[in-house]
Amino acid sequence: MSADTILVVGGTGNQGQAVIEQLDRLDTDYRILALTRDTSTDHAQATTELGAELVEGDLADPETLQAHLDRADKVWATINFWAVGYDAHIELGENLAEALESADGLEHLVYSGAGDQRSDTDVPHIHSHYVVSERLRESGVPYTGLKPVYFMENWETIGVEDGVLAFPLDEDTHHHQTTYRDTARASAVALENTEEFAGNEYTIASDLLTLEETAAIISDVTGEAVEPYHVPLDEAEAEFGEEFAVMCDHFINEGGHTSFEANIRRVEREFGFTPQTFEEYLRENGWEGGKDEPAHVPGWVKAMQ
Ligand SMILES: NC(=O)c1ccc[n+]([C@@H]2O[C@H](COP(=O)([O-])OP(=O)(O)OC[C@H]3O[C@@H](n4cnc5c(N)ncnc54)[C@H](OP(=O)(O)O)[C@@H]3O)[C@@H](O)[C@H]2O)c1
Repeated sequence: MSADTILVVGGTGNQGQAVIEQLDRLDTDYRILALTRDTSTDHAQATTELGAELVEGDLADPETLQAHLDRADKVWATINFWAVGYDAHIELGENLAEALESADGLEHLVYSGAGDQRSDTDVPHIHSHYVVSERLRESGVPYTGLKPVYFMENWETIGVEDGVLAFPLDEDTHHHQTTYRDTARASAVALENTEEFAGNEYTIASDLLTLEETAAIISDVTGEAVEPYHVPLDEAEAEFGEEFAVMCDHFINEGGHTSFEANIRRVEREFGFTPQTFEEYLRENGWEGGKDEPAHVPGWVKAMQ
């Protein structure tokens, strides 16, 4: 039987709004509570247009979460590492875990972390997502971990400049990518089917491309020539920041990522939908004939604004 009420922690953000849209598409009668620190912001108000009720609370002040958790049957959550950094990410995760432990009768928690999250990585945000997800799992609420890989939405702001797609990947790296929509679709399916999904973790991957292939697809869709430029790792920090540079080092030297192809098929098999290809993403997000305005602003870009 469907749950009545789902609390979406991060519900006014990119991923959370996509989750609310996908829950709505399931054609169930969920009541959706979107947690926000401030109901008056534009992004909070935009969330009400998706049919969610805004509820005010702050992960930094766990007492503000309790009344909302008490209303909820199930919880979806993400925490934006980029806005707060490593230590605060873990602290906010700890606060959420403690609040979950104080709530009664929660049936399911779905946490959206990061692809390849594991204990032995040197990439701070991948590691903090791992720590948070382990702590949330220990809360005792039936837990599903989703691990989305690099979001295609990042290309909206990285973009093509003067016909060049510059990114710190070498020629051999197959770069696994997904979308807010696919991560949200998987989230909605998991929330709807608690018994099947609780206790498991899933990498969410939709397409697997080298930088050459990524540039070629952008070129096909926009109709403009696009050349890939492999930014050397020792120049990546100056251009993209330290965290991004460490992440790309990880993609090149620890990933390889061809193994992730299996995860694309697994998404299809386990969640019952065909993940978006990069070409489909571009066509659905206004890249045909050229791109003027970004369709999305990724969380790490918001954190820098
Ligand atoms: N970019 C990628 O390729 C990629 C891939 C995989 C995973 N990720 C992960 O995706 C995450 C970012 O997700 P996103 O893009 O959805 O972020 P986002 O758009 O910046 O949304 C952040 C959400 O968190 C809420 N929030 C922030 N601080 C809060 C607090 N103290 N208490 C309660 N709510 C709070 C915000 O609500 P209000 O502002 O309304 O309060 C908003 O709803 C990052 O952790 C990143 O590591 C990114």
